[in-house]
Amino acid sequence: MDSLWTDRIAAGALGMRSSAIRDLLKLTTQPDMISFAGGLPAPELFPTEEIAAASEQALVEAPLATLQYGPTEGFAPLREMVAGWVGRLGLSVPADQVLITAGSQQGLDMIGRLLIDPGAPVAIEEITYLGALQAWQTCQPNYLRLPIDEGGLDVEALAALLAGGARPRFLYIVSCFQNPTGVTLAPERRARLVELAARYSLPIVEDDPYGELYYEGQRTTPLAALDIAMHGEPRHVVYLGTLSKLLAPGLRVGWIVAPRPLLDQLVMLKQGLDLHTGSMAQAVAYYACRDGLLDQHIPRIRALYGERRDAMLAALAGERAMPAGTRWTRPGGGMFLWLTLPEQIEAEALLERALAQKVAFVPGHQFHPGGGGANTMRLNFSHSGPAQIVEGVRRLGAALWAGA
Ligand SMILES: Cc1ncc(COP(=O)(O)O)c(C=O)c1O
Repeated sequence: MDSLWTDRIAAGALGMRSSAIRDLLKLTTQPDMISFAGGLPAPELFPTEEIAAASEQALVEAPLATLQYGPTEGFAPLREMVAGWVGRLGLSVPADQVLITAGSQQGLDMIGRLLIDPGAPVAIEEITYLGALQAWQTCQPNYLRLPIDEGGLDVEALAALLAGGARPRFLYIVSCFQNPTGVTLAPERRARLVELAARYSLPIVEDDPYGELYYEGQRTTPLAALDIAMHGEPRHVVYLGTLSKLLAPGLRVGWIVAPRPLLDQLVMLKQGLDLHTGSMAQAVAYYACRDGLLDQHIPRIRALYGERRDAMLAALAGERAMPAGTRWTRPGGGMFLWLTLPEQIEAEALLERALAQKVAFVPGHQFHPGGGGANTMRLNFSHSGPAQIVEGVRRLGAALWAGA
């Protein structure tokens, strides 16, 4: 009886694994735990009043659009608004080139279903977003892993791969304040990458949930904007955005800006997946944001997370905080930094001691689809306040010394 269902799992789904992070997050809900493990926005920033008012407005002003089935492409006023929002970044596209998705996670899932056959080569950063790997588990791609450093993807390594004849279905890249490492693709590498895409007809999937969350300097121009500048319309880059880190992830509202031939396919696929993203969530997102809430709200996020990032960087740099030889990234934004311990320290073993000290992080090997990274970890700095961050880093140090 037990095998009635499990014997019938399709071949492609047999290797599915639960996300170790999601499993770890269950452990970190204990009240006295300081968690650097999740990727959660700070709950104190949720604009609950504005969202409550928007819900009421949506139901009063547009009850049908809010409660009825809607178009697969998304709620038209929201698509219009998103087109205006991405237009400011140089993605000048008409609203009918914006597809609303249930978060960018759904966008990743759809792209995998459309573009990956079992065994097909897909180029990725050697350390990358776990959720994308999970989304594509059943597609069974053959990953071509490219090195990254403080300037993001090593674009010359990609150039060499392409020059050698490799033809990946696409390159997947988190272009700003990458999850998990916090690194951002440098401007000169962006220009080179878009040029390579044009030369080799390489599709690029640009996942950009964190680009607005910069704590110094200014907004980096998305690859998609460079692609549009080069061709007059989206040609090689499909761009994924989301309200999850800007407003609230519970809304599950994201978007894809895609070249038209791909967009049409995505819409057909989405028809079969969920008909459309929840009407209520779309309408609430629209009514909440139509009068400029994002412009008021994002600076608040930047101020708070920027302070938290600084607190974490300062705590890590404190005397005897970390063993000699420990390195970490200094992200200009986003929610994560990446810490590399001396070679002989295993982050997975350290996690057990850290949990005993009531502090959590994600061991970095989980973000390495090709193995490696045993001495690395991802630390989230957006969820805990500065005092908790200082205490959490102290506990992490205590766990490290306990194992020394
Ligand atoms: C790089 C990256 N892509 C996509 C997502 C999924 O975001 P969403 O909530 O929009 O589905 C996340 C969430 O953490 C992420 O870090």
